[in-house]
Amino acid sequence: MSVAAPPVGVRCDRAEAWAALRGHFEAHGREFDLREAFARDPNRFAALGVEAPELYADLSKNLVDTATLHFLLDLARECGVEARRDAMFAGSAINTTEGRAVLHTALRAPRHSTLVPAEALADVHDTLDAMLAYVETARDTAASGIRHIVNIGIGGSDLGPQMVVPALDAYAHPKLTLHFVSNVDGHDIASVLRRVDPHETLFIVASKTFTTQETMANANAAKAWFVANGGTDTAKHFVATTTNIEAAAAFGITTTFGFWDWVGGRYSLWSAIGLPIALAIGADNFRALLAGAHAMDEHFASAPAAKNLPLLLGLIDVWYRNFHGFTSRSVAPYHQGLKRLPAYLQQLEMESNGKRVDLAGETLPFATSPVVWGEAGTNGQHAYFQMLHQGTDTIPVEFILVKRPTHGIAGLHGPLLEQLERQHTMLLANGLAQSQALMLGKSTDEARAEKAPTAAKDITPDTLARHRTFPGNRPSTTLLLEQLTPRSLGALIALYEHRVFTSGAVWGINSFDQWGVELGKALCNALLPRLASGDASGLDASTSGLLNRVRR
Ligand code: F6P
Repeated sequence: MSVAAPPVGVRCDRAEAWAALRGHFEAHGREFDLREAFARDPNRFAALGVEAPELYADLSKNLVDTATLHFLLDLARECGVEARRDAMFAGSAINTTEGRAVLHTALRAPRHSTLVPAEALADVHDTLDAMLAYVETARDTAASGIRHIVNIGIGGSDLGPQMVVPALDAYAHPKLTLHFVSNVDGHDIASVLRRVDPHETLFIVASKTFTTQETMANANAAKAWFVANGGTDTAKHFVATTTNIEAAAAFGITTTFGFWDWVGGRYSLWSAIGLPIALAIGADNFRALLAGAHAMDEHFASAPAAKNLPLLLGLIDVWYRNFHGFTSRSVAPYHQGLKRLPAYLQQLEMESNGKRVDLAGETLPFATSPVVWGEAGTNGQHAYFQMLHQGTDTIPVEFILVKRPTHGIAGLHGPLLEQLERQHTMLLANGLAQSQALMLGKSTDEARAEKAPTAAKDITPDTLARHRTFPGNRPSTTLLLEQLTPRSLGALIALYEHRVFTSGAVWGINSFDQWGVELGKALCNALLPRLASGDASGLDASTSGLLNRVRR
């Protein structure tokens, strides 16, 4: 794709809407109280609810009102967010520092879609068809003899499949076990190799560049283990997913599924990098995952701004980061299958928007990416929710609730069915209660009026009530899915991608490069021979001291 990048809009901090938002924040934002907002406006829940493909979003527990959203939408317009979005879909080289288009949306567009450039689509579909034909052969486990699939990759070549495969466990092939190896630490691959048989194992070497240190090291380890344990048919047992077909061939891999430089690593699960997903859930379900994402793409591209969910979420992120000064956001998926979603989102958001200069290279005088973190509900409740409720920081929380479970136990009925249904109701009640508690809080008077538990003798009832006070007014968003299916998961992931796009576009940064990972890689390469030789000359005192101790 060679369309030039679009002109850049006004940088957010120089926009008129930014000044208007600053005034609005001082007048109404700093002291905004959710409880009062609900009391003032009986229509608040309906007004701040958004229907998007496959999910409903309740934005009403956020520290915004319609005026805030109005100013934020003005900001998006002035910053050219919509023009930048259209340029992305059109295949412009919006990743300017790498001179690349950003077209992961083409990976999930139907063959004759007009949303993305036609010239990308033919290639995408031919490659997808070939990959899914291979998938169906490999999934015939009686014929292929494959029982274990080991994906070797890191970052974007790992986190997407590693998140999606357990999320769609109910759809997974019952006789295939998926393993993920990413860390250069040999303990990672060793624990997998101990459990598999070379004759039953398919290794996928997943790397966009096919040069990543960790992945190449683990691929070499896998190959050495395979040969040492009587594996003979390397061509059958090793495949690659990469844009660097020559390097894969040089490694000795003959079956390779390619993709393109306009697919960013953290946006690549829709490409050949999704091979482990397709192997787990099959071709039809993989296509449903793509279709769900495409539905969200259409929504982002054409829903009116005031009801455009990725746009609104990205703008609320800006509001919290730059006006309220919140430094992090916690993600709480109330579905065990989504336990790796926070890790996936960390790369998506923090590698995309953890930037400190604008597109022109000017240092930014405002904050960008928040820290994104979290854990599956209800486990997080028993770990860090204490801080969310009573700590000194306000941390917006994102609840992801799924109405209907997919337990995937064949013939589930009787007491077990009833028990699991009860547990699902408990799960939903927990999710709803947490967002309610964060918002409502509990005043010291309410705490005082409660029957107090036994405390140390010298603690007065009043002191105890203060310990048992919840400030409340802590914001959250709830995303509600009907069921966790390939299609709804596709939509959910695409929602996050476009939301990250939105805040990045407002901030005027390049959300699609990742120069920040390069320095450490280069220094590691320089240190490797020093660890062997012990040469610490010219190093800073701390690094040379540590190097000596490591070698001692
Ligand atoms: O961590 C940096 C990074 O380049 C990520 O952006 C990428 O997803 C990961 O490394 C893996 O890269 P590759 O797919 O080329 O092995």
